[in-house]
Amino acid sequence: MSHAEDHDGTRRDFLYYATAGAGVVTAGAAIWPLINQMNPSADVQALSSIRIDVSSVVEGQQLTVKFLGKPVFIRLRTQEDIDNARSVALSDLVDTDSRNPNKPGQATDQNRTMDDEGRWLVMTGVCTHLGCVPIGNQSGDYGGWFCPCHGSHYDAAGRIRRGPAPQNLHIPVASFVDETTIQLG
Ligand code: FES
Repeated sequence: MSHAEDHDGTRRDFLYYATAGAGVVTAGAAIWPLINQMNPSADVQALSSIRIDVSSVVEGQQLTVKFLGKPVFIRLRTQEDIDNARSVALSDLVDTDSRNPNKPGQATDQNRTMDDEGRWLVMTGVCTHLGCVPIGNQSGDYGGWFCPCHGSHYDAAGRIRRGPAPQNLHIPVASFVDETTIQLG
């Protein structure tokens, strides 16, 4: 093998590896987002926002989804629920805070519900006493939710009315993406 041939061979090898190397870099760029999504921080970030299709929820039905490790109740309220909740005077409430980051202020039914008509109510399904999951479907003495652990009664807007729980059921950050999709987080 002449020196020149040897040189050419080395050069061909170099080009070959350079090309292969470029290929790896390209593949690496494509794979990186997938690997990146597997990092704990990215994983948590992805879970910190979820979208729920609520198109199949019928009036009077509650969908329960798990969000950030907690149950979230998504209820399409009946007119009876709405009338019931809106007839309550603020002075009758134990907790007058809306507990709603989307609509901070007083715990009016309007400030607790997603839409102006008050059809959609989204709440974290964790009793504010010691964290049990309350039972829904117009349960308890106020037509809302009842926590059987120590007897907390929540009304049709998820506001604490009687029992040891100190606060209204909390409301997560939530919004409508479109008419049938709710985003949590
Ligand atoms: S945990 Fe709900 S009443 Fe105690």
